Amino acid sequence: MQKITKICCIGAGYVGGPTMSVIANQCPEIEVTVVDINQNRIDQWNDENLDNLPIYEPGLKEIVAETRGKNLFFSTEVDKAIDEAQLIFISVNTPTKTYGKGKGQAADLKYIELCARNIARVAKDDKIVVEKSTLPVRTAGAIKSILQNTGNGVNFEILSNPEFLAEGTAINDLLNADRVLIGGDETPSGQEAKDALSAIYLQWLPKERVLQTNVWSSELSKLVANAFLAQRVSSINSISALCEKTDANIAEVSRAIGFDSRIGSKFLNSSVGFGGSCFQKDILNLVYIARSFGLPEVADYWEQVIIMNDYQKKRFAENIITTLYNTVSGKKIVFYGWAFKKDTNDTRESAAIYVADALLDEQAEIVVYDPKVPAERVYADLDYLNTRSPEENRRLLKVVNDPSEAVEDAHAVAVLTEWDEFKTYDWKAIYDKMLKPAFVFDGRRLLDKEEMETLGFDYYKIGQS
Ligand code: UDX
Ligand code: ADP
Repeated sequence: MQKITKICCIGAGYVGGPTMSVIANQCPEIEVTVVDINQNRIDQWNDENLDNLPIYEPGLKEIVAETRGKNLFFSTEVDKAIDEAQLIFISVNTPTKTYGKGKGQAADLKYIELCARNIARVAKDDKIVVEKSTLPVRTAGAIKSILQNTGNGVNFEILSNPEFLAEGTAINDLLNADRVLIGGDETPSGQEAKDALSAIYLQWLPKERVLQTNVWSSELSKLVANAFLAQRVSSINSISALCEKTDANIAEVSRAIGFDSRIGSKFLNSSVGFGGSCFQKDILNLVYIARSFGLPEVADYWEQVIIMNDYQKKRFAENIITTLYNTVSGKKIVFYGWAFKKDTNDTRESAAIYVADALLDEQAEIVVYDPKVPAERVYADLDYLNTRSPEENRRLLKVVNDPSEAVEDAHAVAVLTEWDEFKTYDWKAIYDKMLKPAFVFDGRRLLDKEEMETLGFDYYKIGQS
């Protein structure tokens, strides 16, 4: 088996960046180069000031500080890195298609295809090519066909090695992965490639956590893992609506069912709805694949997870409107949090975007505070929806850096992200600054109902009447 000493990763995003930093950190004898066509992103990865890394992730800057410049490099020289590497990770983005067949559901594979064509053009010796991006089933087959038919006659082994890290806990998830999945051909050279990649992970993970499968099982398992996780969130969120109509409390229900060891206690937190770059996209992919293989019942079954998630976001926004006497026009509503979960600056598919959109439709005046998300990102998210003009978005919604200034004369505060710091705020001072009655809509079940009511707030907690 060949010993891997040089690897490269194409794509310096939320997956490529942290994953390669951990590999470099754990395998000092391997030289790791992360490349991206986005010069600005690479400059941020190379910034002297580690607070300027493009991704906020607890523990990441410490690892980058230890390894960058030693055996971890960030560069825009894509061809050079491909040429020199024995093993190439593809970790580029695979957004949902916004055009043509499969629009709104299927993954857009144009970036993957460009990568494959680039590798085929540049490679002059045998390479192992690893899909790291989440991809629809059978993408490895497409990559293989491009590489074999357009390459320089060298041999490529294609592996699927989906990433299971969750943002906000990425470093811990990588260092203590529940499992690493490596799919490849069941041929002698496929086995050799799987073993070469396994050897990297075995430098810090026990043998039983590194699973080898065929390519298709690996590709499908990633989609299914995310679909199951998202399904748990939608399941508990569906029950939160029922709790609000009865006198049941979603926290007590979650706890009661989570004690059943067959169900388990994790991922049962009711919220304003799941977000992130994976859940919705992967389920839509699963739905698209099922439908295209003539399995409409399977497609409908999984689609319901998305429908329930959209309902939860809409329900939260509508509750704000009805509670504020059926009109939010001209009323100041403060959003605490914009990121799709705490401890990340990622906002992709964040529930906050859709709740804001619904309230802006009613001419609410929104003020956003998030400890890690910059104003440009908030506006880019809203502009992307294309519901109203960029000028209108900027007129109705402001982004501030000071959480206490934001609440001056506000009618309501809505908690959209579960940042720990929101729990430590002086809520009495917040109450004093707000108009009365002062409403708090807690979409993350972050605050204590009794305490908030004692302070005088009209407090709504998702999943509780
Ligand atoms: C997810 C998967 O967990 C990870 O394995 C995969 O590699 C990528 O997709 P991520 O999207 O980063 O990771 O975050 P995750 O912690 O799974 O949360 C996703 C969304 O679900 C967030 O918006 C979160 O707030 C929400 N969520 C999660 C809940 O609302 N309730 C829960 O109990 C758990
Ligand atoms: P993820 O969350 O999957 O990591 P991101 O969007 O954060 O996704 O990152 C993907 C990165 O891949 C982006 O920085 C993008 O510039 C980069 N990228 C896309 N296509 C190419 C390509 N052909 N060559 C190099 N980098 C690419």
